[in-house]
Amino acid sequence: MAQLSGKSVYLTGGASGIGKAVTEAFVKEGAVLTVLDKSIAGLNQLKQQFGDSVQCIEGDVTNYQAHADAVRLAVEAYGKLDVFVANAGVFDGFAKFQTVTPEAMSNAYDILFDINVKGYFNGAKASVEELKKTGGNMIFTVSGAGFYPDGGGVWYTASKHAQIGLMRQLAFELAPDIRVNAVAPGGTLTALNVISPLQPFVKTVDNETKEKSIKSRNPLRIAMSSEDHVGAYLLLASDNARAITGEIISSDGGLSVRGLG
Ligand SMILES: NC(=O)c1ccc[n+]([C@@H]2O[C@H](COP(=O)([O-])OP(=O)(O)OC[C@H]3O[C@@H](n4cnc5c(N)ncnc54)[C@H](O)[C@@H]3O)[C@@H](O)[C@H]2O)c1
Repeated sequence: MAQLSGKSVYLTGGASGIGKAVTEAFVKEGAVLTVLDKSIAGLNQLKQQFGDSVQCIEGDVTNYQAHADAVRLAVEAYGKLDVFVANAGVFDGFAKFQTVTPEAMSNAYDILFDINVKGYFNGAKASVEELKKTGGNMIFTVSGAGFYPDGGGVWYTASKHAQIGLMRQLAFELAPDIRVNAVAPGGTLTALNVISPLQPFVKTVDNETKEKSIKSRNPLRIAMSSEDHVGAYLLLASDNARAITGEIISSDGGLSVRGLG
């Protein structure tokens, strides 16, 4: 039997990158998905690709009501909610704290924390009651930047640490009803956006340079694609993970075994 047969999943940021790859993998394993994203073009493509297996909602994760509407639609369409995947996010482009003006620092903080951190709070809050009914689970997309410096600048790194704190506290508070876990991808070839206040302070990097840099930084020498991470999400979402909560699966080419050299 398919790993997620009949599971109803609510996922944010599914119109592109890692969220899109997870959507595809979950559909293949028998799930139906409700996807919230701000990109109408991306959502239209997703709908074309997956038809009745997904319903798409255009909205912003910083707005609690968008999540509440998405959860209501998931339950109306599929009768229940089994899994919430918090994934939509933005990047700071490795902007250096010392070179950014105080105004840009403050604006960047408001925008990036609103999306990366409050977006996860909002989605968790909106889905908690329905997940309690099904004994479901939440999965947060975090990052190697949630453990180590130099996976981004201060805004991104601090936001990823905050997501891990939220995940661990929720795993504690929501047990025994709901499992809460995370996947920490390493550098991945996606279109992850740098927020506008920091754009004047960062260099744009072409894909070839990005690929080389990602490869050189992890021991397995992999320039990861979104599809490389889906196995971790499939496991955590499935009933095979019924004893796992408060955990983070790193899918990063082995960043933790870089050694001292
Ligand atoms: N790409 C990497 O190297 C990498 C590494 C580790 C973790 N991650 C994390 O993976 C997650 C997905 O990023 P990705 O790399 O696939 O990037 P991506 O840009 O391809 O996908 C992000 C999606 O989120 C959506 N989104 C952004 N802001 C939104 C908002 N305010 N409201 C609704 N939707 C919004 C975008 O439209 C997009 O479809 C993020 O949490 C990111 O931090 C990425």
